[in-house]
Amino acid sequence: MNIVLMGPPGAGKGTQADVMARNLFVPHISTGDIFRANIKAGTELGQLANQYISKGDLVPDEVTLAMIKDRLAEDDCAKGFILDGLPRTIGQADALEAILAEQGKQLDKVVNIDVPEELLIARLCGRRVCRNCSQTYHLENNPPTEPGRCDECGGELYQRADDSEETIKNRLEVYRAQSEPLIAYYEQKGLLLSVNGNQTINNVLVDIGKGLGQSW
Ligand code: AP5
Ligand code: MG
Ligand code: ZN
Repeated sequence: MNIVLMGPPGAGKGTQADVMARNLFVPHISTGDIFRANIKAGTELGQLANQYISKGDLVPDEVTLAMIKDRLAEDDCAKGFILDGLPRTIGQADALEAILAEQGKQLDKVVNIDVPEELLIARLCGRRVCRNCSQTYHLENNPPTEPGRCDECGGELYQRADDSEETIKNRLEVYRAQSEPLIAYYEQKGLLLSVNGNQTINNVLVDIGKGLGQSW
């Protein structure tokens, strides 16, 4: 299955995509995670992307689209993928369709995780991520067993640099202006599955499964 996961910053895209990918035996491709891995490794791509990510702005299309084109062409995507974080604009959606068509593929479903904006800031401020394996926690909603340590690998938990209140505000504005129109775009294409993201992590997963005809 070729799936896109959409939703505002903090909606739970990464949280859900991780579990879905493991269950469907397909890769979880997060553009944000790829950028952050490049920032950590100090690559040229990482240095460029960081100028935008640190402010909460979108990384330019020529960089993002070239990166995703290469990633989708890798062998592990042959049986499907969960794409988290792209497209973020109508232009990227059109470009994605063209990239997939070149590879003889198309999207099967676009899952939109719907969460009221007032919940997002608390979700992002309380998020902690494992430095080693990227597993995501929340100080209140989904805490690790031992504070500051990852349950999966024992790695150190850290707060993402773009999870400061000021950057979050800009990310939400960018989402509203540039990404929200994708909901109507994919609805019109008959691909949209909207789920209520304002429920427990597990219940969101169950609802996504129902919409995809999948019991996890
Ligand atoms: P990216 O990393 O994709 O950030 P984002 O879209 O802002 O989304 P987040 O990762 O912050 O949230 P999420 O929905 O994954 O939530 P999570 O599951 O972690 O992108 C970062 C930046 O990269 C962008 O700002 C941009 O600069 C650049 N970029 C990326 N893609 C790009 C593109 N296509 N074009 C251009 N630039 C691009 O959950 C959040 C928290 O809530 C966690 O603590 C979690 O434990 C908790 N939580 C999750 N679900 C629930 C629930 N149901 N109930 C309670 N708590 C929950
Ligand atoms: Mg994420
Ligand atoms: Zn870990």
